[in-house]
Amino acid sequence: MRTQVGIVGAGPAGLVLAHLLRLEGVESVVLEARSREHVEHRVRAGVLEQGSVDLLTETGLADRLHREALVHHGIELRFAGRGHRIALSDLTGGRSITIYGQQEVVKDLIAARLTIGLPLLFEAEAVGLDGVGSDRPTIRFRHEGAGRELECDVIAGCDGFHGVCRDSVPDGVLSAFTREYPYGWLGILAAVAPSSDELIYSNHERGFSLHSLRSPELSRLYLQVAQEEDIGEWPDDRIWAELQVRLGLDGWTLHEGPILEKGVTGMRSFVIEPMQHGRLFLAGDAAHIVPPTGAKGMNLAIADVRILAEALVRWYRTGDPAGLDGYSEACLRRVWRAEHFSWWMTSMLHRAPDTDAFDRKLQLAQLEYVCTSEAAARSLAENYVGLAHV
Ligand code: FAD
Ligand code: DHB
Repeated sequence: MRTQVGIVGAGPAGLVLAHLLRLEGVESVVLEARSREHVEHRVRAGVLEQGSVDLLTETGLADRLHREALVHHGIELRFAGRGHRIALSDLTGGRSITIYGQQEVVKDLIAARLTIGLPLLFEAEAVGLDGVGSDRPTIRFRHEGAGRELECDVIAGCDGFHGVCRDSVPDGVLSAFTREYPYGWLGILAAVAPSSDELIYSNHERGFSLHSLRSPELSRLYLQVAQEEDIGEWPDDRIWAELQVRLGLDGWTLHEGPILEKGVTGMRSFVIEPMQHGRLFLAGDAAHIVPPTGAKGMNLAIADVRILAEALVRWYRTGDPAGLDGYSEACLRRVWRAEHFSWWMTSMLHRAPDTDAFDRKLQLAQLEYVCTSEAAARSLAENYVGLAHV
């Protein structure tokens, strides 16, 4: 098999890239290790920045999104027994966030590609890359029980944090910057109407919790737990009891309902530099991870491939490699801004095992400042909705 751009991974990064390239007449093949059923039902992120929605809208992918998604103009920060609204739209000249599950974005992208019969292979696991330093790089993959090869001009490594593309870069080329957090998130999807119209980020002395939603009938909630927490230790009753304590506020009721899905995710910050080597370009979680507190993961993946698609189109049209050469640098400005914001939100809202009374006072002072100073609130808001100019 041969194509122009070989894309490894059918998450938001790989699928949006394939779509943007198709619109500009550049050919690609997408290889995805898992089944269609699996990727369409993997519950993950839920917050789209304005810029991500704009891109999906401009490229004809947002019809269902505009029918079903929920546009939010604020979030609540809850601490010390009180709730404070951060008026995102008022503070950012009218920008907003949109609640639409990552798996819904993925479903829309898969349908768009398969409807027009373009190549997207499920259960096609890349096992290695060859010749990324040459002008004929190749992806080795397994499909339908056989070993196969895809020869490309360029490879886009969109295969997430645990993929194979990053590891195919020779030793010594990439620098990695990492931070592990001593906690994780236990996330649930529950068949119950959301208890609030907007997201609630709560700092409680027992740990962080988050109230989010997916639709008028579906709530999504998270609890800070230990990094390697055994989900078996968390029967549904215990989850609801802990959420009641951590989100509890006089005059407000958290509605409970059947839990449809639950899981634990570890938290880390991670960036590799540069995000490219030879004819291999890494995008999304393959190149960087943020802790989920800033709701940035899926948005960064989409922002990377917008830059990559423009660079590839320019190269194919004019032979000019400047966009490709500058890909990593262009992405990393936004990546590091999001890394800082996500680390900052995480540090302000979670309780680390070694937190002492001094740390706790600092957290509360910072939260108080964000909720009483317009300048501080605006800084949070512009990062949360997504910085347009980075
Ligand atoms: P992915 O979505 O991971 O897509 C990579 C794809 O590559 C996958 O489909 C994978 O199956 C495939 N793949 C991997 N290896 C191979 C291979 N060898 N060959 C072929 N295909 C391969 N962000 C938030 O903002 N909020 C959240 O609540 C949140 N929760 C998360 C929960 C989990 C469990 C995880 C893992 C991430 C979560 N994130 C969250 C982060 C967000 O979902 C990611 O940032 C986003 O998925 C990045 O998109 P991506 O396309 O780069 O990677
Ligand atoms: C959701 C996830 C996040 O990481 C976040 O910061 C806000 C909302 C969600 O899944 O709805």
